[in-house]
Amino acid sequence: MSTESQTATGAAPRAAGFVVLGAGKGTRMKSDLPKVLHPVAGLPMLGHVIRVAETRQPERLAVVVGHQSETVSAAVAKLRPGAATPLQEPQLGTAHAVQQAREALDGFHGDVFILYGDTPLIRAETLEAMAAARAEGAAVVVLGFEAADPTGYGRLITGIDGSLERIVEHKDATTDELAVKLCNSGVMCVDGARLFGWLDRIDNNNAKGEYYLTDIVGIARTDGARCAIVAGDEEEVLGVNSRIELAEAEAAFQRRARENAMREGATLTAPDTVFFAHDTKIGRDVEIGPNVAFGPGVEIDDKVEIRAYCHLEGCRVASGAQIGPFARLRPGAVISAKARIGNFVEVKNAIFGEGAKANHLAYIGDASIGAGANIGAGTITCNYDGYLKHRTAIGEGAFIGSNSSLVAPVEIGANAIVAAGSTITERVEGDALGLGRARQTVRPGLGARIRESLAEAKAARKAAEKAETEAAQAEPSSKSDG
Ligand code: UD1
Ligand code: MG
Repeated sequence: MSTESQTATGAAPRAAGFVVLGAGKGTRMKSDLPKVLHPVAGLPMLGHVIRVAETRQPERLAVVVGHQSETVSAAVAKLRPGAATPLQEPQLGTAHAVQQAREALDGFHGDVFILYGDTPLIRAETLEAMAAARAEGAAVVVLGFEAADPTGYGRLITGIDGSLERIVEHKDATTDELAVKLCNSGVMCVDGARLFGWLDRIDNNNAKGEYYLTDIVGIARTDGARCAIVAGDEEEVLGVNSRIELAEAEAAFQRRARENAMREGATLTAPDTVFFAHDTKIGRDVEIGPNVAFGPGVEIDDKVEIRAYCHLEGCRVASGAQIGPFARLRPGAVISAKARIGNFVEVKNAIFGEGAKANHLAYIGDASIGAGANIGAGTITCNYDGYLKHRTAIGEGAFIGSNSSLVAPVEIGANAIVAAGSTITERVEGDALGLGRARQTVRPGLGARIRESLAEAKAARKAAEKAETEAAQAEPSSKSDG
């Protein structure tokens, strides 16, 4: 595909390459974990940046690493196998950082996006707007924003035609320039054919003695290239430098995820108390009550009801199922259509067939529950012997009486009944009754006789106690002085 081809309709996406900067130290996080690996909604910040880059089907992607490079590179290998991780050592500034990706982008002449690994909320729509500005002929497109407090940010200096003339860093700005509210987010999209040529011309003659990527604008302009600004909102360019900003990014992510779920047809009774993971999938007409938290890997089909105080992670819930209140679905839980998982039920690595029920107080782990089966209150699958996990298989329509322990590996056939209070260690075949508890006996009159003898014993004890205290009071008081 020719990167120079005109896509007048905008139908075919332009060839995109990405350089993600992640070499910085992140001192203010006060952490052993590299800053860009701190998670937002269960995914490292760097993962958010890579996911948004992937919306443009990148032909090249390089993450520039520096501090704790091995840890960061290993994480990149998982997040995007095959991505380049050039090392920047020492860190001499943002332009110097991008230069480290020269080899990874060798021969690539499409649009090169430059993103920061610690700026996780950047939106796909924004990258699209930047690509559109490139398509309209700007050689450098900078994502700008109006900062509530512009202190510390580079300022975008525009010409009379509104195009971008140069970026001046806060430390190098004049008083007039400091009055400019339009700030540099750091995110850019540059003509890949000219990027590295321009970077080579950047020097470190400035207040910080660093190679500023921002100088690319002035240099491109002297070559007669046009530079443009795309405006974003401050929230999406939020850079995380501290745990406080990490929490702000999390809050912003959650606000977006909640609004998105509601826009897509879910009802959230108390949106502020529902927490999504980066990859939570929620269908239409889903109802989510207050205080529900989603860990990674959850898929909820249409018309599911999740009542208050549930925790779900790594699970699938099919249409019409009802979960909670107070239920916990752990990784590998698959809840089929119209099944019900009630209060204080924990499910792990277990499949509930259609319409199966565990309505109260149960632990179901490493199991399969047939369609329409009923799991009584207090049922426990004893899946672990201290060394290995074992499976419990329960057939369709089976009825497990309350307070049963199913010692795995064990099988309960279709439509079988397990008597309440049973400890089941052997297979119960289909349609059978499994009863694994001591037989009950009834002894007429023995209850009354026991009460009588207990009452006598109690009276005798009280009398003895009384006699003892009286004897103690009768003794001369001097004797008690020690
Ligand atoms: C940069 C911009 C500034 C902008 C601001 C937005 C420059 C010169 N300035 O300033 O205009 O308003 O971001 O937040 O670009 N990094 C490396 N290697 C380096 C230096 C930085 O990988 O040698 C990475 C950092 O890890 C970070 C990003 O680049 O993710 C930005 O670096 P930072 O030092 O925070 O730049 P600012 O001074 O904030
Ligand atoms: Mg910064």
